[in-house]
Amino acid sequence: MLELKTPQLLSDDELLAHVERALTQTIAARSLAAKLKEATHYALLGGGKRVRPLLCLHCCAAASGNMDNAMPAAVAIEMIHAFSLVHDDLPALDNDDLRRGRATTHVAFGEALAILAGDALLSIAMEQALSSKIGAAHIAHELATSTTEMISGQVLDTLGGFPTNFNAAQQLELIHRQKTGALIRAACRMGAFAAGATADTLDRFTRWGETMGLMFQVVDDILDETQSSEHLGKSAGKDAVQGKMTYPKIHGISWSRDHVKELLAQSEQLLKPLGPAAQPLRTMAQTLATRTK
Ligand code: IPE
Ligand code: IPE
Ligand code: MG
Ligand code: MG
Ligand code: MG
Repeated sequence: MLELKTPQLLSDDELLAHVERALTQTIAARSLAAKLKEATHYALLGGGKRVRPLLCLHCCAAASGNMDNAMPAAVAIEMIHAFSLVHDDLPALDNDDLRRGRATTHVAFGEALAILAGDALLSIAMEQALSSKIGAAHIAHELATSTTEMISGQVLDTLGGFPTNFNAAQQLELIHRQKTGALIRAACRMGAFAAGATADTLDRFTRWGETMGLMFQVVDDILDETQSSEHLGKSAGKDAVQGKMTYPKIHGISWSRDHVKELLAQSEQLLKPLGPAAQPLRTMAQTLATRTK
């Protein structure tokens, strides 16, 4: 089994290896139709930065929890993320053929199996969340509500339909907070639940997770405009082609970059009272602000 009792002794690479192993085992342990197993394995493994599981595990440790107890939640949130990517890439949504440097799931396996693999990732994620040793009900509830919020954000991003009094900047922020922010905030909150955190800590991680979530998608929008497909491992320049509302489109690249810096400064303010225990979270915030893929 996973032995994460002394997480402070694990390097980032070792922690990532634990996450990869847990993801692999979760699919391997299921008795699924062979094609479904292959497609879910493909969608979940073989690439991905694992940002959400790492946030979940680090938040658990920063709230004085044992990372081991957050591993089911970490696996669950990555499975929801993988499901969201499989569906995001479908012809009816972003119609992308490149993801993590290779063919998207529907290109590799056909649309029917890709849709069903997304569905299976969603339900296996719920099973995982419910298997948490500490805070299972809170973790599963968090996973379900944030998934619904992500889907709502995908609808706004794909089909629009905003509250009538929202200007463009407000519409954009709403899309980003829902389609991407919700799962990132949930990753942080689930880590706190797995640590049995106090209401104060939970509230701080909620606000920090929201800041990280918004920052993550602003950076994603900037990278779509400024990096190559080869570097990103997904098709660059598509947001403009598809007329998506993005931070660079509404506010310009330079304002968007400044906004990332502001969100990073907000992150530092939120983490300050936690002292040295939050160092891994500071490092993650810095990495997420300056990433190039
Ligand atoms: C991409 O997420 C989709 C967004 C929500 C912006 P990631 O950049 O975390 O994708 P992977 O998992 O590393 O491929
Ligand atoms: C993805 O947003 C959000 C979700 C998958 C929920 P994007 O459409 O910008 O993500 P990429 O750029 O395809 O990874
Ligand atoms: Mg999209
Ligand atoms: Mg997309
Ligand atoms: Mg994008």
